[in-house]
Amino acid sequence: MTSAPTLARTRAELDLALRPVPRAVVMTMGALHDGHLSLVREARSRGEQVVVTIFVNPLQFAPAEDLDRYPRDLAGDLERLTGPGLLGAGDVVFAPERSEVYPDGDPVVRVAAGAIGDVYEGAVRPGHLDGVLTVVLKLMHLTRPAFALFGRKDVQQLVAVARMVRDLDVDLTVVPVPTVRDADGLALSSRNAYLTAEQRPVALGLSRALAAGERAAAGGAGPAAVRALTREVLVAAGVDPDYVALVDPETFGDVPEDTAPQTGSVAVLAVAGRVGDTRLIDNTDVRWA
Ligand code: PAF
Repeated sequence: MTSAPTLARTRAELDLALRPVPRAVVMTMGALHDGHLSLVREARSRGEQVVVTIFVNPLQFAPAEDLDRYPRDLAGDLERLTGPGLLGAGDVVFAPERSEVYPDGDPVVRVAAGAIGDVYEGAVRPGHLDGVLTVVLKLMHLTRPAFALFGRKDVQQLVAVARMVRDLDVDLTVVPVPTVRDADGLALSSRNAYLTAEQRPVALGLSRALAAGERAAAGGAGPAAVRALTREVLVAAGVDPDYVALVDPETFGDVPEDTAPQTGSVAVLAVAGRVGDTRLIDNTDVRWA
């Protein structure tokens, strides 16, 4: 018996491969790195069967974005997914074509992320989170998992997915998984592959800015000062900031600028910015001491 997971390219192949056991799903767009593998390890500890989906979802890319140049390497991804603690016999990689996911063309009816989809990532990338939620809900229906694992790195996506699952009574548990970082602090991302050797130290500005914001909040700085300092560090590093968000972890609503947060309260500090042509995001929890 082979120890490789089943590769399903169609809905019919996926259906055949699903077993009647508690399942955990990890949804990806491929170009897998250690961050994805930590999601798969967590899935392995939750589900008797693990399904990894690999699909570069056109709905979540704007026309000028990197859909065409988004890295694709199915053979490499399959190799990376197989091994101790990862996928084996009885697990599934679902890697459908666009026409398999959207057999009637782009969907007419879509999921709307509402207020969460209008701010920050949603403001910079209008419609992006609607496209994400639409494919995530479809993949939830197709894979029928008990657990769906999402990285904290895409925190606004995680908040939107968790809210969709609550609001639309999707019968599964969303499991958040911590961000994986390189030794120098850079959050792992498929887009890091676009960075040149000169751009990489600049990209470290994101994690440094977050650390500065975290320290400021722990030292008692208010929301306005945390935002300002975070932006200052980003700019000083050479990152061209898209936004600095200090938001409620459940709603993604802004922490009010002028009220002092209570001791022990937690917010998400999220940043996005450009390093050359590459757009990077990162975030951390900040806690007021
Ligand atoms: O985070 C991603 O890679 C994508 O947004 C997802 C969740 C796989 C949906 O296409």
